Amino acid sequence: MSEQSWSQLPGVSAETNKFPARSSIAGEGIIVFKTKTGYRGVQRACPHMKATMMAGELTANDTMVRCPLHVFTFRLSDGRGVNCPGFEIKVYEVKEEGGQLYGRSANELSLTPGAR
Ligand code: FES
Repeated sequence: MSEQSWSQLPGVSAETNKFPARSSIAGEGIIVFKTKTGYRGVQRACPHMKATMMAGELTANDTMVRCPLHVFTFRLSDGRGVNCPGFEIKVYEVKEEGGQLYGRSANELSLTPGAR
């Protein structure tokens, strides 16, 4: 399987002063969070009942994101729900280069260890 390439994230940059911020990747809306260890993206709509993850809160030392509507909580590493078995959110690696932010899916990479 080929390694996923990075895509520049429109509408957001390292100069963006307010996170979370909306962007998109491959036509899908994402929300970019700024964590203590860097940026991370998640799908825009909560997989439970479609609440916007713009209102999501970082938790567990910025390793998880919690939807405020019914407090479903997802790991930013692989998107798995921690208090909602069977639910999973799409997560995206986000990196900064020259002031621009680039993203790529992290879920698919997590399914193919060694693909990096
Ligand atoms: S809509 Fe997000 S937990 Fe219900």
